[in-house]
Amino acid sequence: MAEPIVPLESLLKEARAAFQAEFGRPPPLAACAPGRVNLIGEHTDYNDGLVFPMALPLVTVVVGGPSASGQCHVTTLAAGADQPLSVQFAPPSAAAPLTPGPPAWSNYVKGVVANFKGGVEPFEAVLTSTVPLGAGLSSSASLEVALYTFLEALTGRAAESLREKALQCQKAEHEFPGMPCGIMDQFISAMGQADNALLIDCRSLESTLVPLADHQISVLITNSNVRHALTGSEYPSRRRACHETARLLGVKALRDASMALLDERKADISEEDFRRARHVVTEIARTEAAATAFADGDYATAGRLMNESHASLRNDFEVSCAELDQLQELASSVDGVFGSRMTGGGFGGCTVTLLKQTSVEACIARMREGFSGKATFYVCRPADGARVVPT
Ligand code: GLA
Repeated sequence: MAEPIVPLESLLKEARAAFQAEFGRPPPLAACAPGRVNLIGEHTDYNDGLVFPMALPLVTVVVGGPSASGQCHVTTLAAGADQPLSVQFAPPSAAAPLTPGPPAWSNYVKGVVANFKGGVEPFEAVLTSTVPLGAGLSSSASLEVALYTFLEALTGRAAESLREKALQCQKAEHEFPGMPCGIMDQFISAMGQADNALLIDCRSLESTLVPLADHQISVLITNSNVRHALTGSEYPSRRRACHETARLLGVKALRDASMALLDERKADISEEDFRRARHVVTEIARTEAAATAFADGDYATAGRLMNESHASLRNDFEVSCAELDQLQELASSVDGVFGSRMTGGGFGGCTVTLLKQTSVEACIARMREGFSGKATFYVCRPADGARVVPT
């Protein structure tokens, strides 16, 4: 059986009660933003490429309101957050800007506050989340975008556009936790729509909704519950390698490179960087083809492309790991499975499997039996992006 998806209403209830206990009044405002699963298009966003994620019914919720204390006071109830679970800081000013520092979770908060256009007034808030932390389902982007949305409601100043909001949240993540992420996670968290996946062009920031509402088809997320220490250091090094190869090829980004160009210049590129670039060039093509296949209801083709994406991430980009490979192989061997792949940054986290709804239980059983670790399963339909919710 898959994990039950905790309804938004229950999360809100928990956050409201905690706010009431801590601040002695009900919270006047609430906002939420989802995590995401990427169906295909991995490590392409920072190469100006295409990605194809969907927003999840797993969300981060922020409740709160203005504070008379002169401070910003935030408490987290999210499972796995590091101590202390409450932080207080003065709203930043030019003379006294915010700086990153422990606890780790508070850097997402401070990053968003520091990047909120026009500054914030003192506030108090409680946040909680059903997006598993560090599982590659964008718990960080969901926190950033939920808090940004909350601050919009608090100040009455909305971002010019959802794109602008996603960009500010991405900047927050670059500057405070120091993760040089692409735009995918914040973008889908801000812009997701129920029953649709979103094809995002990470160069133009144009996006196209692709309906994914067929109830005979399921998206199964499998959390390996492993996270290898490499994640922190390998992501920036992959990003650098891609940018270096683009420079060497004389193109703005690997989005502009073709396999023909890459083959032509093979002798000038290290064997490793060649494989990294080959992943990106072929993954962008696969993403475009997969979005068309999804739109046509051609799940066999979409699934084959997902399997190919996994092989490319494993062999060429080298961001998979033994646990993800094992889960991918187990899922692919089940009747009714169209395709399966690792999803997110890699080195642990989750796989995503596209399959017939009638095969979900068999697929979960096969993975449970065959997997060396302890996996957790989520069956998700595409959900809505960030929004203010009634308190
Ligand atoms: C992380 C980053 C994204 C993206 C993926 C890999 O989730 O935050 O921007 O680069 O890895 O596709």
